[in-house]
Amino acid sequence: MVVGGGAIGLACAWRCAQAGMSVLVLEREAPGAGASGVAAGMLAPVTEASFGEEALLALNLEARAAWPGFAAELEEATALPTGYLDSGALVVAADRDDAEELRRLHAFQVELGLGAEWLTPSAAREREPALSPRIAGAIHAPQDGQADPRAVVRALAAGLVAAGGELRTGVEAVGLETAGGRVGGVQVVPAGAADGAEREVVPATSVLIAAGAWSSAGEIGSDPFAPPVRPVKGQLLDLRVRPGRRPPARHLIRTPRCYLLTRPDGQVVLGATQEEQGFDRTVTADGVYRLLEAAWEVLPDAGELELVGARAGLRPATPDNAPAVGAGDVEGLLWATGHHRNGIVLAPLTAAAIAARLSGREPPAAFAPFGPDRFAGGVAA
Ligand code: GLY
Repeated sequence: MVVGGGAIGLACAWRCAQAGMSVLVLEREAPGAGASGVAAGMLAPVTEASFGEEALLALNLEARAAWPGFAAELEEATALPTGYLDSGALVVAADRDDAEELRRLHAFQVELGLGAEWLTPSAAREREPALSPRIAGAIHAPQDGQADPRAVVRALAAGLVAAGGELRTGVEAVGLETAGGRVGGVQVVPAGAADGAEREVVPATSVLIAAGAWSSAGEIGSDPFAPPVRPVKGQLLDLRVRPGRRPPARHLIRTPRCYLLTRPDGQVVLGATQEEQGFDRTVTADGVYRLLEAAWEVLPDAGELELVGARAGLRPATPDNAPAVGAGDVEGLLWATGHHRNGIVLAPLTAAAIAARLSGREPPAAFAPFGPDRFAGGVAA
């Protein structure tokens, strides 16, 4: 059984159902109602590489490499699109301060052998003519790409059902059923039920918690290995290329303050803020203003796009901002959460890891540093 119908939970469920397991996914709202429905879909380990996070980078790179096969297989199994695109990425310096920062990032990328190339402003504008003449340079990361998370969630839900799995929405997992030191199922109530509502026990021999920012809330998080997950708010704008106008860019465009993805159908996603605001999902004027300003600095034409809407979601983050994937303390309990900024890129590899564990095989070695047990003993979120 899987608690959570986002990209991570559904990808794990799909792989397990394909492996012949009997799988039920419990989802409080609708598939992708959490972070997956707000994620932009960056498959961008090189662009998002951070100093001191080399093990996470290795994991993200391996997951990125799994994407072409994962997307092709999912599209073939469901006849639904995933929006997977080998777009490459440009990390653009809006000014000389940015260029200093990005030069350091580029040196780090080169040191790690990532094959990222420094571009002069004119070379960057040859690749993306809509970039501002004021930019101060860019990093070209040809390996990075993108997918459409909402399309991916739709395809995964369809793939799960086609593989014999089941998805139950409108139920909230509120407790674990254990007997003799092992998992026996999950206690659920109707979503939104008052405290103290009668609990139904849904039996299961294995339970995977993949409930994003809600993974360690309440009784579900009472497992000693429960990763202390906190919500990290991200606001994002939905824009659209107007009829007769050119798309703003072909590559994924990143700056130190925003990123912009252009989909082949003319939809443009501009993200994302990163805010520690608890479980607040309000779209704020400040968030919208800052994102538009950040995009406009490097792509002035972004201001001409149609504004379709804005969304806010909650990334699930652990204290070290890396995922927690693996066995819990109670036998039969597993965790796949804490994917923070990397949930979409990590979905294929996380699913492979969980399916491997439940089939008695070794999960990918790149997950070794990222077991939930690293938080045992209590680390404050
Ligand atoms: N991966 C981009 C974000 O979390 O905003």
